[in-house]
Amino acid sequence: MAEKKKFQAIKGTRDLLPPETELWNRVEQTAREVFGTFGFGEMRPPIFEPTELFARAVGSRTEVVGKEMYSFDPAKELFAVDASLDAYPSPELTENIGESVYRIKDAFDKGDIPRTEENQQKVANLLFIFNQLKELTQNLPQEFQQDSAEVFSEYRTLVDKCRTMASLIRLGNVSISLRPEATASVCRAYIEHGMHALPQPVKLHYTGPMFRRERPQKGRYRQFYQIGAEVLEMVPPNQDPAKNITKDAAVDAEVIEMVMAFFARLGLEGVKLEINSIGDRECRPKYVELLRAELMKVKDKLGPDSQRRIETNPLRVLDSKLESEQGIIAGLPRITDHLCANCAAQYAEVKRQLGMRGVAYAENWRLVRGLDYYMRTTFEITARGLGSQNAVCGGGRYDGLVELLGGPPTKGIGFAIGEDRLILSLQEAGRGGAAQGRDVFVAWMGERAQATAITAAQKLRAAGFRVELPPVEQKFGKALGQADKLGARYALILGDDEIATGQWTVKTLASGEQAKMSEPEFLELLRRSKPLSS
Ligand code: HAM
Repeated sequence: MAEKKKFQAIKGTRDLLPPETELWNRVEQTAREVFGTFGFGEMRPPIFEPTELFARAVGSRTEVVGKEMYSFDPAKELFAVDASLDAYPSPELTENIGESVYRIKDAFDKGDIPRTEENQQKVANLLFIFNQLKELTQNLPQEFQQDSAEVFSEYRTLVDKCRTMASLIRLGNVSISLRPEATASVCRAYIEHGMHALPQPVKLHYTGPMFRRERPQKGRYRQFYQIGAEVLEMVPPNQDPAKNITKDAAVDAEVIEMVMAFFARLGLEGVKLEINSIGDRECRPKYVELLRAELMKVKDKLGPDSQRRIETNPLRVLDSKLESEQGIIAGLPRITDHLCANCAAQYAEVKRQLGMRGVAYAENWRLVRGLDYYMRTTFEITARGLGSQNAVCGGGRYDGLVELLGGPPTKGIGFAIGEDRLILSLQEAGRGGAAQGRDVFVAWMGERAQATAITAAQKLRAAGFRVELPPVEQKFGKALGQADKLGARYALILGDDEIATGQWTVKTLASGEQAKMSEPEFLELLRRSKPLSS
């Protein structure tokens, strides 16, 4: 007998189940409310985008894009012929080639392959050659004989022609990736929908799954959820972007204030905000060179990862958690001492503005972030109960990113909260919320009682109460046991007596008290005590 296969969620992904999903919903609802009070509107970008978008925005040499993306190139596999069949002419080989040919035709029809006239002609040619191959296949001798050599050679020629024709079709750049983050999507959408023409700045927030092929551990998943927000503002023509230091700093500070207000509303514990400035196009390259030169002097004392990063991205060496490197890193030049005048002024102003808003922070000159688009302000927030993956939010300024993606000169600042980690920290602090429970369990017996039970359940549900109505009658003892297990607050007991008198029996499960009351009295009792769902 065939063994039954047990399916499991893929490594790094998981099911979010009730009652935990109630906490997720509450967190997301609170985000909408808090961000709404700051004038943000919700946006829902797609879950996959062109690979090129992330490569350009986040940086093709970053870990996130270079190593961790889930990418698909539908065109790559279009003309794939099974190598084990390819050696010799056979009906199976023809069928196999046919699958490839029809895959290409299908991709062209759907527009996955650019629908140019040239491509249309080539797809038609491919089909024509394949039809010849099909015809010839019917005449293929069963076994190779000397006199069949000609047919076999003709067959081979047609196979090669199919292959050549398929390779001539211009597939275009169709690689797509599951989004590893959403800032790139928000910027793409800002450009695509001409949002620079809206009143500026445009403030957007989003919630949803992101995908990174990281090594899974506590607080780190391959499908994880982010709650993020971005502020985008086109720079009017002829305006020197450097001139608006106070304004930009105020925007940075308000964005940070908003995340902190959100965390405070949720009662997140042990929240620590760290800030830094990583300079701009003018001062950062000079600092990076200085850092590289200093790192070269101590190269032998560094681990292999940091040694590699001296070449590729020396700033990331500052991220190192290796114990043996900490002493060396402490002695390296600090970017905060090498900022140009504008960056230094903005950083000072961000700190002043945070002070005005009563937002406590610590400076961390080693906070460089792992994505290429940042400049000037960067920040990270940690929370309690998370172990090594304790960053619950990361963000920063990214002026110029929209321009890099083909839009007008635009400033940007934003953040993303790791929702999985946020939830974990809330749970660790005992803020996981109550189990789902029910307001009312309707215990009924008899046909007439069922009719009353159904109408009662309808009314109670319409009034917003959580009601469990058993589909078949149960002995009252069993029903009350189930009501207990489900964490119901009240059991409404409906039997012949209750129907005859119109006086319902209501049992308060916590105290065991039982009382008779009319339907309006029961509704009133429920209304006076808070419903579970509020
Ligand atoms: P990020 O620092 O890559 O920034 O991610 C933000 C947050 O997402 C992290 O602090 C962490 O809480 C969470 N996170 C990241 N990877 C994982 C994972 N594998 N499992 C669980 N949680 C994870 C960004 O994504 C930027 N787009 C933020 C931003 C928006 N900057 C400006 N605007």
